[in-house]
Amino acid sequence: MRSIILHGGAWDIPDDAVDNHHQGVLTAGAIGWDVLKQSGTALDAVELAIKQMEQDPTYDAGRGSFVNRIGEVEMDASIMDGRTFEVGAVAAVQNIFHPISLARRLMERSEHVLLVSEGAARFAREQGIAFCTPEDLLVGRELERWRQIRRIPGYSGKLAFSGAVEEPTHDPSLPGDTVGCVALDDRGNIAAGTSTGGTPNKYPGRVGDSPTIGSGTYALNSAGGASSTGWGEAIIKVVLAKTVVDGIELLGLNPGAAAERAISLLHHRADGYGGVIALDPHGRPGVAWNTPRMARAWMNDTMTEPFAAV
Ligand code: GLY
Repeated sequence: MRSIILHGGAWDIPDDAVDNHHQGVLTAGAIGWDVLKQSGTALDAVELAIKQMEQDPTYDAGRGSFVNRIGEVEMDASIMDGRTFEVGAVAAVQNIFHPISLARRLMERSEHVLLVSEGAARFAREQGIAFCTPEDLLVGRELERWRQIRRIPGYSGKLAFSGAVEEPTHDPSLPGDTVGCVALDDRGNIAAGTSTGGTPNKYPGRVGDSPTIGSGTYALNSAGGASSTGWGEAIIKVVLAKTVVDGIELLGLNPGAAAERAISLLHHRADGYGGVIALDPHGRPGVAWNTPRMARAWMNDTMTEPFAAV
């Protein structure tokens, strides 16, 4: 069975942003589904669907990314091929439109699995990846969010916008608009990918879960695939994506139950908030989140219309 599932963030998505989040996952899902329908690969479906969300300013990925503490955009992405068990990831990359494509290029044309910052930029130049200006990625909404955050004295990246004293956990209402996709093609191959601008006002060089294989992204044909969204510092501690896939493979759970179990661990072990999507090797979708809203969509051969909701 061909199958695709996507997410466009899990947080307290404001009412006036719901339609864009909904339309964005539908549009990206249609692009990925088109690839699968034409007998394309799961990897292509994942890359193209995520590229669409990277160019959609609705999300914290590519254009529309959050701004870090020094007013710059630094992005992370990863992709995993469940057929070959190969991975590619980039972190703290700047001035490129599509970090997911750079991650894939690294997976396919390098012996390494993760490059960061200047090294990732150097590799991108060598590969002829097009660069853009900082302004191409920075949208007014995020500049304004950053200005608001910077007005909070002592803001450390963990505080709610209220400016309350520093808390050990983050506020689930803080935005978490990372995007991700998992696909299964007609040859039974699973791929997963994730892309993000990280967290608002993050420290320069901070790396979250999205490029961290097992936390942000995981795929193995015989077990399933998953992609995470939410607060990376907590997601990393519970290795969220692989925890879901382990639930499917090792505990025999369906993808929905495996996702619920992993989100419960995120909440109880790490005080974390976020969401996760998954497919099992049969293409059955699963999703769970513990934030007020999560943007998600899926389509497969058993359906006549895609499902999307926020
Ligand atoms: N989940 C994205 C991040 O924390 O960077």
